[in-house]
Amino acid sequence: MVETHTYDVVIVGAGGAGLMAALNASQIANVAVVSKLHPMRSHTGAAQGGIGAALGNLEEDHWEWHAYDSVKGSDYLGDQDAIEFMCREAVQAVYDLEHYGLPFSRSTDGRIAQRPFGGHTNNQTGKPIRRSCYAADRTGHMILQTLYQQCLKNGILFYDEFLVLDVLVDGGTCYGIVALELATSVIHVFHAKAVIFATGGHGRMWEITSNAYAYTGDGVAAVVRRGLPAEDMEFFQFHPTGIYKLGILITEAVRGEGGILINDQGQRFMEKYAPRIKDLASRDVVSRAMYLEMKAGRGIGGQNYLLLDARPDTVNRYAEADGRTRPDGTPYRVTAEEILSKIPDIVDFCRTYLGVDPAVQPIPVQPTAHYAMGGIPTDIYGRVIVDESNRVLPGLYAVGECACVSVHGANRLGTNSLVDLVVFGKHAGLHAAGYARDADLVPLPPQPESFALQQLASLRAGDGAEQAARIGKELRSLMFDHVGVFRTAEGLRQVVGALEDLRERYHHIRVQDTGTTFNQELQSAWELGNLLDLAYITAVAAEARTESRGAHAREDFPHRDDVHWLKHSLAWLEGDAIRLGYKPVVITSYPPRERTY
Ligand code: FUM
Repeated sequence: MVETHTYDVVIVGAGGAGLMAALNASQIANVAVVSKLHPMRSHTGAAQGGIGAALGNLEEDHWEWHAYDSVKGSDYLGDQDAIEFMCREAVQAVYDLEHYGLPFSRSTDGRIAQRPFGGHTNNQTGKPIRRSCYAADRTGHMILQTLYQQCLKNGILFYDEFLVLDVLVDGGTCYGIVALELATSVIHVFHAKAVIFATGGHGRMWEITSNAYAYTGDGVAAVVRRGLPAEDMEFFQFHPTGIYKLGILITEAVRGEGGILINDQGQRFMEKYAPRIKDLASRDVVSRAMYLEMKAGRGIGGQNYLLLDARPDTVNRYAEADGRTRPDGTPYRVTAEEILSKIPDIVDFCRTYLGVDPAVQPIPVQPTAHYAMGGIPTDIYGRVIVDESNRVLPGLYAVGECACVSVHGANRLGTNSLVDLVVFGKHAGLHAAGYARDADLVPLPPQPESFALQQLASLRAGDGAEQAARIGKELRSLMFDHVGVFRTAEGLRQVVGALEDLRERYHHIRVQDTGTTFNQELQSAWELGNLLDLAYITAVAAEARTESRGAHAREDFPHRDDVHWLKHSLAWLEGDAIRLGYKPVVITSYPPRERTY
């Protein structure tokens, strides 16, 4: 049985980007949101430490400084026109969130509070700046709740727990999606004038990750299977502070509030790698430094973790050494109560998962796979780009982590994911609604669901010689070992070969559960297929890029090579092969320079 629905704009994904797009599109269009999860369970909730915007509430700041920091953080791969647009718009975006009702933490005089975050600086002194606007360490949750309430108030319709299977594209125009209703296994065709993908990232292909189980790249996979490219997939960020062995995120705000990383010898090793901003260097720099310390035998007890020390005595000692002051110029000092009030969820996580109280003991941490800089190529209005000359595909949009605008380039700054989804969610929503107002609905062909159904059928028809769970385990371990913080030609070649093998073995799995109510075996087999396709693209693009830039660190090519590699990759999945193409980076005000922190 297939059910068909018709809307002006269909948004796939109900995290911050999807909700923002829905809210804005609904001003003039008839909108539905289709989401694998209930909106409140979206991964935006995992963004803890804040949203960056140059409000200048506690010290001088300018959106141009934010833009420069983001360009530098991106290792000059970010498109500078898009970055300037995002950083300029970020200021109003934060006020919009405030006016929607977001309960930001406040400064003593009642303004939105701001804290330091990695890579955000006063451009004149090079010192950390207070730019991240936050709601304790629950900023993402507050964004979700605020936007969801606004969407409900505006009568937007939600299809919760629907897994997107396919995007309908014909004659160069998008006209809908196909989705599986998880509660019933009914197939739904959403016929629309415009579709906005906001399906988030794909970090579940790594063994240690901060990403939710839902992060399986469903939108990007659907798009590449329809012959469209993915951009800059070789760039995947490792956040320096995941809980050891579990990967659960310990927000960078812990370091923003004065926490420091220490090695087995009790040294604050970031002084060596980033003498000016130390523990608040950009994430690629800190994660690499941690690996180098561990490789040199200075992991704790010789193991693969370090300590994040946020005990008040430690914070106060190093704050004094750094000459850190409060906004009123008095010396920076914290108490255990202040730490608890600024990072309550982190304190809770540490108590729950580690039995550690961060006010009393340091936290064992290791880099954790965190964020996809690459994804579906778009312009600043979220319109999907299909080739090296930036041709757009009418009716198809992407925003948030599944998209590559590109504002994060080779390495995203902390807080800029939330900026990205609010700013571009708004503009994609407005643009898609305007497009839908003027466009005609492309008629549905007979059986638009057939491509999705064929793929589902083949999952049930395999000979059962392989187990999906085993393939998934091998995938995660390969990616973590060889497509992680450091990469080599040999490791990448091995992964590409192994992925060809895993993709072949995937054809032999068989979904045995024939049930129709929340068939989780079917869902996870589908999601594994998505991860395998995207891992393959990631590894091939990483093998091809013979330089080190941002999060892509090649041991065999340790330097950035602007002569040959100042360009975005585009990857097309063509059956069992990948074709790579490249397009130029947009440079406006900031010519590439060597990065130092
Ligand atoms: O560290 C954090 O709070 C994460 C934020 C982000 O990824 O932007």
